Amino acid sequence: MNLLGIETSCDETAAALVEVRDGRMRVRKNIVSSQISIHKKYGGVVPEVAARQHAENVIPVIKKILGKSKPDVIAVTAGPGLATALLVGVEVARTLSYVWGTPLVRVNHIEGHLYANWLTAPRIDAIQLPALVLIISGGHTELVLMKKHGVYQLLGKTLDDAVGECFDKVGKMVGLSYPAGPQIGALARAGTRNAISLPRPMLEHKNYSFSFAGLKTAVLYHLQKHPLKTRHERADVCASFEQAATDVLVGKTLRAAKEYNARAVIMGGGVSANTYIRESLEVALAREMPKTKFIKPALQYCTDNAAMIAAAGYFHAVKKDFTTWDKLVIDPAWELAV
Ligand code: KG4
Ligand code: ZN
Repeated sequence: MNLLGIETSCDETAAALVEVRDGRMRVRKNIVSSQISIHKKYGGVVPEVAARQHAENVIPVIKKILGKSKPDVIAVTAGPGLATALLVGVEVARTLSYVWGTPLVRVNHIEGHLYANWLTAPRIDAIQLPALVLIISGGHTELVLMKKHGVYQLLGKTLDDAVGECFDKVGKMVGLSYPAGPQIGALARAGTRNAISLPRPMLEHKNYSFSFAGLKTAVLYHLQKHPLKTRHERADVCASFEQAATDVLVGKTLRAAKEYNARAVIMGGGVSANTYIRESLEVALAREMPKTKFIKPALQYCTDNAAMIAAAGYFHAVKKDFTTWDKLVIDPAWELAV
């Protein structure tokens, strides 16, 4: 099966061609046309600007992916995300499906982040379920129990900011440009992880909810009392912040993995590109649950891309979970699980 993935939920116009054959998934082509340099000057994503950029880029990107070939299935992100941005990808998918008669799959963006892990798995059945999934992105922070393909239970999510949003805002406070997540990780390596004392919000609460607004505010108060004077002080703030966020994410993920006897722990979303979080979770899991497999997406599939949308689309397509061009609608607030 050859699947065309289309993703336009935020600030990346992405398309990919993924082939599934003999129990293996292979990314044949993958293009992510980033708008980050355009949104940088506004300090964040401007929905209207994003939609215009998608409209300009989406056909050239798909043309580069497909050439003259036609896919067997089209998988497109229908939510969650920015309404005006989602509409562009969905309209193109509807049009192609109408013209070619190609089966259409409607994919949840968060489910895409989860399935990014299947893109590099040795075989599509190599990941054992139930799996505990930690989704950490710019818009979401969730712990989800994946019981079977397509069957999810939400264990907890953030009550306020997403962790990626928190990385970006803390980065802004210390003078970094949008998106600051990757830069914080790089600076943190030169800092001292307990240099400043920061809270670990909700770590001790016996539930799986998160809260990152308080952590962000604690950094703000620290900076108001101790304005940054040196590069080293900035590195210390980044390192202490990264440690506090990591402690919460790792602590809650481990507790959930134990409670639900997860056979695998999976992470996904832009923040799962953070080396320190990846390594800390891997080390903690190996120490406390050595029989549970730890799976992390390849770095190029952590942040938004369309290969992950095609991967999620495959698992719907094998169940004949198709939609048609006249029924496909966006859902900007689509929850993967409730
Ligand atoms: O998944 P994603 O590309 O878009 C959403 O669906 O939100 O995630 C983007 C987020 C941004 O907040 C960005 O700062 C963060 O992921 N991010 C990182 C890293 N790379 C991207 N945060 C921490 N460390 C990184 N290496
Ligand atoms: Zn995303």
